[in-house]
Amino acid sequence: MTRAARLAQTILAAASLGVMAMANGAATDDSSATPNVALSDASSPLPDPARARELLQLLKQDCGSCHGMRLTGGLGPPLTPAALRTKPAASLVATIEFGRPGTAMPPWRRFLSEAEARWLVARMVAGDVDAPR
Ligand code: HEC
Repeated sequence: MTRAARLAQTILAAASLGVMAMANGAATDDSSATPNVALSDASSPLPDPARARELLQLLKQDCGSCHGMRLTGGLGPPLTPAALRTKPAASLVATIEFGRPGTAMPPWRRFLSEAEARWLVARMVAGDVDAPR
């Protein structure tokens, strides 16, 4: 499938699931979450520069299609430092890897490893999401 077709399919799925997501209500608002700790430790090695650029482009183009070009929210919630800081990193990583069934958030594990998802979460929490040119 082409990238465009995949994206179109994802967006279609998002449109049909959006209604369900709304019916479910904001079940994920977890204000008692503990702060993120140790996002970059020895178990999450940095991706090499080429892969890092790819991941940040994926974040902007694919994730941005739902979460907004600046990640300030759209169909999906904002992925800004303010929005993510208080959420447990492990749950954000799991959301990226496995998606959220019953919502528009698709799984991404075919496209990025858990370590890469953890790296992206750390970048989002730091607000440092622009790919180097
Ligand atoms: C088709 C639309 C769509 C795409 C594409 C998408 N997301 Fe999401 N995402 C959502 C929705 C909708 C939610 C909220 C799900 C819910 O209601 O719990 C979400 C939730 C999340 C959350 C949890 C946020 C929180 O506050 O708990 C993270 C993290 C996330 N997405 C990251 C990503 C990343 C990284 C990508 C790209 C690799 C991505 N998303 C691509 C729709 C999308």
